[in-house]
Amino acid sequence: MNDIDFTLRPFRKGDEPSLAANINSRKIDRYTINIPYPYKPENARQWVALNVKEDRKKLPGMRNFVIDVEGKVIGSVGLSGIRTAHRAEIGYWLATKYWGRGITTAAVEMVTAYAFKELGLRRVYAYVVPANKASVGVLKNCGYEYEGLIRKHSMKHGKPHDVLLFAKTR
Ligand SMILES: CC(C)(COP(=O)(O)OP(=O)(O)OC[C@H]1O[C@@H](n2cnc3c(N)ncnc32)[C@H](O)[C@@H]1OP(=O)(O)O)[C@@H](O)C(=O)NCCC(=O)NCCS
Repeated sequence: MNDIDFTLRPFRKGDEPSLAANINSRKIDRYTINIPYPYKPENARQWVALNVKEDRKKLPGMRNFVIDVEGKVIGSVGLSGIRTAHRAEIGYWLATKYWGRGITTAAVEMVTAYAFKELGLRRVYAYVVPANKASVGVLKNCGYEYEGLIRKHSMKHGKPHDVLLFAKTR
């Protein structure tokens, strides 16, 4: 169980400084594919603006939630590649100082429930690099099942990486 009071909410204007400060870590960059590093103020500005726009859509292509502690962005859980009433990919990160306290497990559980109940999806899946034991731990905690190793699936810095595929269905 996590011992921190957090809320999940949409991104909003004003999130840029805490987003940029907390996501800009080599330890987060190491296991993620699509997050810029170093993370610049401009990256935060664009990401918040994109999410504010996306959240206004009735049929979103993605839904990203802030893990909020005292009004600050300390992490995020998001659904991307949403196919209406069918499937989406889940992704997440958390500021390093909060690691190991069950926060992401609790947040991923909530967003998975949202995907099934509110968006009506049938399948939520995640790609994880094999060395990322904490992420595998989160997915297993949340009832995701291992489906296989996908060879050379993700490209990072011009190099292909194998990933593990996990999914939960209903
Ligand atoms: C992945 C990440 C979000 C996990 O956040 P977290 O809040 O610390 O995760 P939790 O505390 O909810 O759970 C992690 C689980 O993995 C386990 N774990 C952590 N490190 C581990 C390790 N080295 N070996 C085995 N298990 C490990 C924990 O013990 C815990 O399981 P438990 O509840 O059975 O004890 C965080 O490490 C992160 O931001 N990493 C960088 C970004 C990233 O990897 N994103 C996901 C890309 S797929």
